[in-house]
Amino acid sequence: MQYPAVDPIPIPAPVWLMKLLSDVTLALHFSAVMLLVGSLALVCFHSLVGRSRKSEVQSNTAYVLARRMPVIMTWVINLGVPPLLFAQVLYGRAIYSSSVLIGVLWFSVILLVMLDYWLLYRVVAAMEAKKPAWWIALIALFITLGIGQIYSMNMTLMLRPEVWREMYNARPTGLQGVHGDPTMMSRWLFVMAGGLVFGGLWALLLSNMRHISEGVQKTLRQSGGLTAVIGIVIQGYCAMLVNQGQSDAVRQGLESNSLYHISGLLYSGMASLTLLTAGFQAFKKSGLVFGIASLLTGFVAIAGAVVYRDGIRDLTLFGKGYDVWNRTEYSNWFVVGLFLLLFVLMIAAIVWLLNVMRRATPPAEQVVS
Ligand code: HEM
Repeated sequence: MQYPAVDPIPIPAPVWLMKLLSDVTLALHFSAVMLLVGSLALVCFHSLVGRSRKSEVQSNTAYVLARRMPVIMTWVINLGVPPLLFAQVLYGRAIYSSSVLIGVLWFSVILLVMLDYWLLYRVVAAMEAKKPAWWIALIALFITLGIGQIYSMNMTLMLRPEVWREMYNARPTGLQGVHGDPTMMSRWLFVMAGGLVFGGLWALLLSNMRHISEGVQKTLRQSGGLTAVIGIVIQGYCAMLVNQGQSDAVRQGLESNSLYHISGLLYSGMASLTLLTAGFQAFKKSGLVFGIASLLTGFVAIAGAVVYRDGIRDLTLFGKGYDVWNRTEYSNWFVVGLFLLLFVLMIAAIVWLLNVMRRATPPAEQVVS
């Protein structure tokens, strides 16, 4: 038995419900991570071009994107917490073991996220003071990529109990990374390439704001559409690599299970649709409906990928003696009901807040007058 044998607490809700909530919140977390990565890349680019060409339009394009990054970071963090809780409850014996083995890196995420968050504010402050901001955005981008790398390390190490003992014997202090996993790099690249997709789609949506200049609207539309198209092609390639890196048993399991099979198709179909709509907006015309529709199809594609990824985890762990569907369950329906009620109330509160925001007077969104 490679997993710690003791698992004293039965889970408080059915496995299917936990998985559903985990997948929905993880799809939202991934979308937010991708928005952050893409925004940082675009801010870096437009800010650098703006300074070198002394172009107001480019600098203001970077500013429009940069101002929203601290808020995006709140989505990244808050939407990361729920899947972390579900992952611990469902896969505790696997994920705790892998987290301990790379403990130093794992804990460093807290400091790195704080540093990253602070840098996002520094980018905006530098732009408002008319100082170069691209290099701060670049550092923040590298830190963000690094945090993602640590997550990919842990999420792949939890699937390899066969290397835990050897790693523990080599470095019981937890001061080590993860090497030798054939899927880690492609999994990480899949999410990071999604940065180009979601950053691009985000820029397309923002290009519809009426209170920004026509030049900024056009720049957001063109660079957003192009970035999204390039991102989808790269991400599709990474998805293929992730699949190829799996063992034959896992690949066959994914093909023969209709849920995972349909999720894979959903990803491919929705990603292709997003590619078409993003390309159309870049070269022909955009509009609020188009902008929202592309983000929605992009989100559904990611949701499909998340379910497929869940299948990879379950099938891999099953082959190594961990059956997540076999957990002892003792449902507490009062708590589950309360949770769902609060969840609905929270969504209602968010819709209300968004409505208030929509009616408010738009702020000035330019750094160069
Ligand atoms: C800038 C910050 C962050 C980045 C770039 C990031 C990136 C990522 C990436 C790339 C993965 C996928 C790893 C893989 O499967 O290969 C991931 C998964 C995950 N992230 Fe984040 N993340 C960030 C912050 C956070 C925070 C603050 C939390 C929690 C408080 C969080 C919770 C999670 C969880 C729980 C998963 C995996 C869930 C599962 O497998 O069920 N992340 N993240």
